[in-house]
Amino acid sequence: MNAPASLRELLDLYQRERGGSLAETAEGVRQLSDMFNGITPHRPGYLASRPLRRAYVHYYLPVNAEKVARVLAELATYAPFARPPRVLDFGCGPGTAALALLLRHPVRDLTLVDVVDEAVDDARFLCGSLGVEARGLAEPPPGEKFDLVLAANVLAETERPLEDLVADDGHLVILEPALRTTTRKLMERRDRLAARGFRIAAPCLRAPACPMLERDDLWCHQDVPWPRPGPVAEIDRRLGLLKETLKYSYLVVTRTGRALADRPGSHRVVSNLHREKGKAWAWLCGRDGPLCRTEVLTRHRSPETADFFHADRGDVLEIPVSGPSARTAGPVTRVR
Ligand SMILES: C[S@@+](CC[C@H](N)C(=O)[O-])C[C@H]1O[C@@H](n2cnc3c(N)ncnc32)[C@H](O)[C@@H]1O
Repeated sequence: MNAPASLRELLDLYQRERGGSLAETAEGVRQLSDMFNGITPHRPGYLASRPLRRAYVHYYLPVNAEKVARVLAELATYAPFARPPRVLDFGCGPGTAALALLLRHPVRDLTLVDVVDEAVDDARFLCGSLGVEARGLAEPPPGEKFDLVLAANVLAETERPLEDLVADDGHLVILEPALRTTTRKLMERRDRLAARGFRIAAPCLRAPACPMLERDDLWCHQDVPWPRPGPVAEIDRRLGLLKETLKYSYLVVTRTGRALADRPGSHRVVSNLHREKGKAWAWLCGRDGPLCRTEVLTRHRSPETADFFHADRGDVLEIPVSGPSARTAGPVTRVR
């Protein structure tokens, strides 16, 4: 039989081989969602439970894999792999982050690490179904370094430092839910790593401290519309959840590797674009200086400024602004 060509096909295969049903997924997601949101206490080793693990695979895996895929697509623009990378997925669960990579890119080798053996078994099954025989471990192998370390949705459960696992020119990718407190912790971690000499590869264009930490009302996150898969939409409908957009925060660091800052672009859009009578405005984060509340008047709408009026959170722009607030008539160019 051919290897699955998409995540959907892979999850269909998982369902045939390892089970799961809509009713079981709905009940499992209800329990997991309550636990992830602090409504019920954290249950150590929760993915050892087969129904919860299957629910995780059928609901959270496709959502989280899509988030990781977005971050990896950006990584490919500034640090394309010169050769298939050695990869570690830390806190892999059912292999979510590794699968996001494997569906798009070959790897030299893959190590899956999780404290829950049953989760590692599912992760090895899913990666194996894509033709990759992964090593499964309960903790990172001492002394080994990886070109790419993925850590998705794991910081709430362990504070283990991960930088020591990354080769000098390799990248550590941390992805977390877009909750305000979680994200601000990630922003603080970013500043600590920058102060220790790490390069912030993304989402920042800057080396200096994060200017958003000075403001209580902002946190650096993504909120991207996506074509929600049918089963995810059905669980959302049954439970009153909403995964219509992908909400996440992320951080990519490296010692000596390439960074988003190596590409053109003066500012990153770090808020929604607000459209008001007579103008559009957004918060922009530049290569240094404060966050800049930037506006373009509607009467200055032209081919020169069109990219500003279509800007989304996360876009990188070339735009002539500075200081805490600015108005510009362009030129504005979105860096693609
Ligand atoms: C919310 S799940 C995330 C799974 C997957 N990375 C994803 O994004 O879908 C968190 C995972 O971290 C694992 N975990 C918690 N503490 C860990 C530790 N100290 N070392 C390795 N894995 C850990 C849990 O067992 C669980 O599988």
